[in-house]
Amino acid sequence: MGSRIYIEELSKHVGETVTISGWVYTKRSSGKIRFLVVRDGTGMMQAVIVKANVSEEVFNRFDELTQESSLRVTGTIRKEDRAPGGYEMDVSGLETISVAKEYPITPKEHGVEFLMDRRHLWLRSARQHAILRVRHEIVRAIREFFDSRGFLLLDAPIFTPAACEGTSTLFETDYFDLGKAFLTQSGQLYGEAGAMAFGKVYVFGPTFRAEKSKTRRHLTEFWMVEPEVAFNTLDDDMDLAEEFLEHIVASVLKNRMPELKILERNTKFLENVKRPLPRISYDEAVEILHKKGIAFEWGNDLGGTDETVISERYDRPVMVHRYPSQVKAFYMKRDPKNDKLALAVDVLAPEGYGEIIGGSQREDDYETLLARLHEHNLPQSAFEWYLDLRRYGSVPHAGFGLGVERTVSWICGLDHVRETIPFARMIYRLTP
Ligand code: 4AD
Ligand code: MG
Repeated sequence: MGSRIYIEELSKHVGETVTISGWVYTKRSSGKIRFLVVRDGTGMMQAVIVKANVSEEVFNRFDELTQESSLRVTGTIRKEDRAPGGYEMDVSGLETISVAKEYPITPKEHGVEFLMDRRHLWLRSARQHAILRVRHEIVRAIREFFDSRGFLLLDAPIFTPAACEGTSTLFETDYFDLGKAFLTQSGQLYGEAGAMAFGKVYVFGPTFRAEKSKTRRHLTEFWMVEPEVAFNTLDDDMDLAEEFLEHIVASVLKNRMPELKILERNTKFLENVKRPLPRISYDEAVEILHKKGIAFEWGNDLGGTDETVISERYDRPVMVHRYPSQVKAFYMKRDPKNDKLALAVDVLAPEGYGEIIGGSQREDDYETLLARLHEHNLPQSAFEWYLDLRRYGSVPHAGFGLGVERTVSWICGLDHVRETIPFARMIYRLTP
C-alpha cells in the first residue's frame, strides 16, 4: 500500500505510489486493459489496470465492481492530459471494500422528482458537487466579510415566542407548560438586541417559513445571514449590502471557477457585480412597470414577475427602497418625509432571480413601535424584551437578511432553489 492521499492532491504525487480510497464512478475494458474511473469526493481519477502488471486475482476483482462500489486502489501516478482530472494511476493493487447493489442513478437522464427522492445518493454526482462547493464558498465569504469587519457572530434561538415576519407563515409546536413555540422566521429581533450590546453583529442560521408558495424561490427551511448595526441608517444599510454582495460574488469568481464551468454558468452578469449598485425608489419601480404596460397598483408588494421586469433593466443587482409601509413588517421605521413609506430596501438579483436581500432601518421610538405592534395584532407581552431596546438607550439602527439558497441559485444559474441545499424542505417534501 502507498500512503493515502486525496484525488485533489494528485499533482503533488506524480511518480509516487499512493493509495486512493473511494467509489467506482464508471468502468470499461479494452483487451488486456481495464479502466476504472474512481471518485473520492475531491475529484475523479482514472485507474488503469494492465493484466501483465497485476496478479490474476487483482485483475479479476475488476469484474465484481459495480457502479458506486467502494474500494482502495494503489498505484503510481502519471500525468495524462487526456484523462479526467489530468492524472492517471497505473494500478498495482486493488481492494474491494463493499460491492454496491444495482445503483439507481445511472449516467442516463432522470426526472427531478426521481432524483430528489434519492437526494442522499444524488449528492454524489459531479453537478451537485459543483453546486454545494459554490454554496460552501458563499458561506465562507459571508463569514469572512463580517469577521474581517469586526462584527460579532450572534446565534439567535430557533424556538421563539412570537412572529417576526407576519403571522401567516409561522410553524408552531407545543412547548411544555409554556403553550406554543414558533420556529424562527428570522433572527433579526435578537440581532437588534445584539447590536445594542456589541455595536455590530450578524446572525447566521436556519430560518423557517410555512410558505404556501410552491415556486422556484421558496423553501420552508432556509439559511439566512442577518447583519445588524447600531447607529446605521437606511443609506448605510444599502452601502453595507452592496459591499457585501460584491465580496461574495468576487470570492466565488476567484475560488470556484471550475465549478461554475461544470454548471455551464455564463459569468458575464456575475463579473458586473461591482459597486455602486443602482438604487431606485419603489415609486420609480412602479413607474418602470407602468411604462411596460403592466397594470400595477401603487401600494401592492412587488410580485415575482414585477421584480423580473424591473431587474431586466440593469446589468447587476438593483436596490429598491422605500416600499409602502402597508406591505412591510411592523418593525420598519417610516420615512420621515412620507409616513406611507417604510425605510426598507430589497435587493433584486439580475436575470429574473428576484429578491435575495430584504432589509430596513428599524423603528427606534418606543411609542411608535408599541402602536405598530398593536396595529399588527402582535402580543405585547411576547415583545416586552424587544421594547426594552427602545426603553434603554435607543438609537437608530438598520440591518438586512440575505437568503443563502436564493443567492446560490442565482450565482450558479439554477432554475430552482431545491438543488442549493443538501436536503431541501418544501411544502411537498420532507424526505429524505
Ligand atoms: O425579506 P425577508 O423576509 O426579511 C427578513 O426576514 C428580515 N427580518 C431580514 C432582516 O432585515 N434582518 O427575508 C430575507 C431574505 C429574502 O430576501 C430571501 O432571500 C430569503 O430571505 N427568503 C427565502 N429564501 C428561501 N425560501 C423562502 N421561503 C424565503 N423567504 C425569504
Ligand atoms: Mg422580503
